[in-house]
Amino acid sequence: CGIVGYASSTLTACGKPLEVCLQGLERLEYRGYDSAGVALVAPGLDTVAWRKRAGRLSNLVESLEAHPLPEATAGIGHTRWATNGEPSDVNAHPHMSQDGKIGLIHNGIIENAAQLKFDLQTEGYSFVSSTDSEVVAKLLGKVANEIIERTGQPDLFEAMRRTARMLEGAFTLLAVDSRQPGIVVGARHDSPLVVGLSEGENFLGSDVAAFVAYTKEAMELGQDQAVCVSGDAVEVTDFDGNPVTDSKRFTVNWDASAAQKGGWDSYMDKEIHEDPKAVADTLLGRFGPEGELNLDELRIDPEDIRQVDKIIIVACGTASYAGMVAKYAIEHWVRIPVEVELAHEFRYRDPILTSRTLVVAISQSGETMDTLMALRHAREQGSRVLAICNTQGSTIPRESDAVLYTHAGPEIAVASTKAFVAQIVAAYLLGLYLAQVKGTLFRDEIHQTVDSLRAMPSKIEWVLDTQADTVERTASSLVDAKSFLFLGRHVGYPVAMEGALKLKEIAYTFTEGFAAGELKHGPIALVEPGEPIVVIVPSARGRGTLHKKVVSAIEEVKARGAFVIAVAEQGDPDAEEYADVVFWRPACPTLLSPLVDVVPLQLFALDMAKSKDLDVDKPRNLAKSVTVE
Ligand code: G6P
Repeated sequence: CGIVGYASSTLTACGKPLEVCLQGLERLEYRGYDSAGVALVAPGLDTVAWRKRAGRLSNLVESLEAHPLPEATAGIGHTRWATNGEPSDVNAHPHMSQDGKIGLIHNGIIENAAQLKFDLQTEGYSFVSSTDSEVVAKLLGKVANEIIERTGQPDLFEAMRRTARMLEGAFTLLAVDSRQPGIVVGARHDSPLVVGLSEGENFLGSDVAAFVAYTKEAMELGQDQAVCVSGDAVEVTDFDGNPVTDSKRFTVNWDASAAQKGGWDSYMDKEIHEDPKAVADTLLGRFGPEGELNLDELRIDPEDIRQVDKIIIVACGTASYAGMVAKYAIEHWVRIPVEVELAHEFRYRDPILTSRTLVVAISQSGETMDTLMALRHAREQGSRVLAICNTQGSTIPRESDAVLYTHAGPEIAVASTKAFVAQIVAAYLLGLYLAQVKGTLFRDEIHQTVDSLRAMPSKIEWVLDTQADTVERTASSLVDAKSFLFLGRHVGYPVAMEGALKLKEIAYTFTEGFAAGELKHGPIALVEPGEPIVVIVPSARGRGTLHKKVVSAIEEVKARGAFVIAVAEQGDPDAEEYADVVFWRPACPTLLSPLVDVVPLQLFALDMAKSKDLDVDKPRNLAKSVTVE
């Protein structure tokens, strides 16, 4: 879910709280789009003014235009990815306290909601929705009223802390109270919240995208902390009320314009075309005067790096395929074992971790709960965790021992594209750095690889410039295909998996990615005449045997009538001969080839989705950052 909050020191005639909430929600819509809602407070309003609607944000905007809300001093907004309760008007946020004085929004899952609800019902509270969030709203209302009865004063901040202490599960909560119209209070446990700082107004958001149009000055909020923002002040405490004074501040390093479509049809279009820049920017500033890798930002002592004897990469979705690519490169360069594991499987299989294991958590958003839980488990077992992440101020880098940021810029489309290539580059940098520190590669070898990496942005550009038409034509000719298979070998295997995932995610086509060698052990039974099969063909240079084996796989499926789309190196005569269509890539070292091979597959999924007239940026049922386990 996406969360935004705003407080100003003056009652604004222009309705700024509503404007900030709606703008913020628009930028956070990638976090969920099952429903949207806002709650506002102002001096003189007896209860919270609110509106919420199922479906996209545009439904809420229409409703607000038809029935405007009053001016306000503070407000909160929510865009939902349904976890608990179907997407509907009543289940949308905000939820109200029994007396309507408090409005609350929530991201996460409250695990003891059933018990709390039962207790509240016994006391006469009634519920209109089937969400766990409404339980928190009612509970907060009750606690706030108890404080007023005892002290004669409203204290929403204290009420929020007390409520947070009663909750089990994961939550970010924001609330407004009509009796304290100048503030928004929040609390977080295992779910993200950042503060935006400005003059006479302050902001809250699930991530900085919520407020970057207004301020670039931000502050991280730690685990189990509560916050109270007014126009003039930001106060942070733990859940017991002890002040927190060491919150980390940072300046957002991208512009609001970076999170806009900038003339493209969709964010995904734009972001695929930013692949070259994402690669180039992730390489920037990581080399010393002699061309040596300089990753001071890692904050891990080189001596500790020398001790590392195993790497485990944990990630989900696209990031896990970047991890699989990294395995091939790091094992080859550093000669230590690298395991790649889906974060949600890792923690529950009792993995073998020691102080010499380096766990690498890869995450675009830095908020994926499965990945966060895996890294916590690793740290509890005494391993070091390094995050590869694209989002400043997010939880995963904050909780890791070290971080290597990808500099892909904000990624808005739900299906990840430019972040994937940036993750691969960051993992290569890590591998080369380990090789440098451990001395497993000669200096010249590192320099050569770095030079090849530096050449990758223009090679990606070449694919975008020259292959887009073929990709588009192929996609429109296959729009009615019921299923696709993707095959690859070595680093082409994760690329095949990623190509298949993209097509599932945004074109809703049944696809599977396989290791090409596995074809004969099962998947070949699926091949019928006309079945489209995408094959990532390795270069015939260097690893010639791999090339031959993949070409054999093409021959095997062709013999059964498959329609083969190859992704192959320019001039590959076998691809030309056996494939029905070829998406060409320029020559590059095999280990780096995923950076170019994935690009036509990203375009292919985009074109398929467009041909089907689907919303490519907001595919059904998905959310960009999944902050529940
Ligand atoms: C969600 C998204 C995927 C993404 C995965 C991991 O499932 O829909 O596109 O790959 O999360 O996200 P992360 O932010 O951790 O890279």
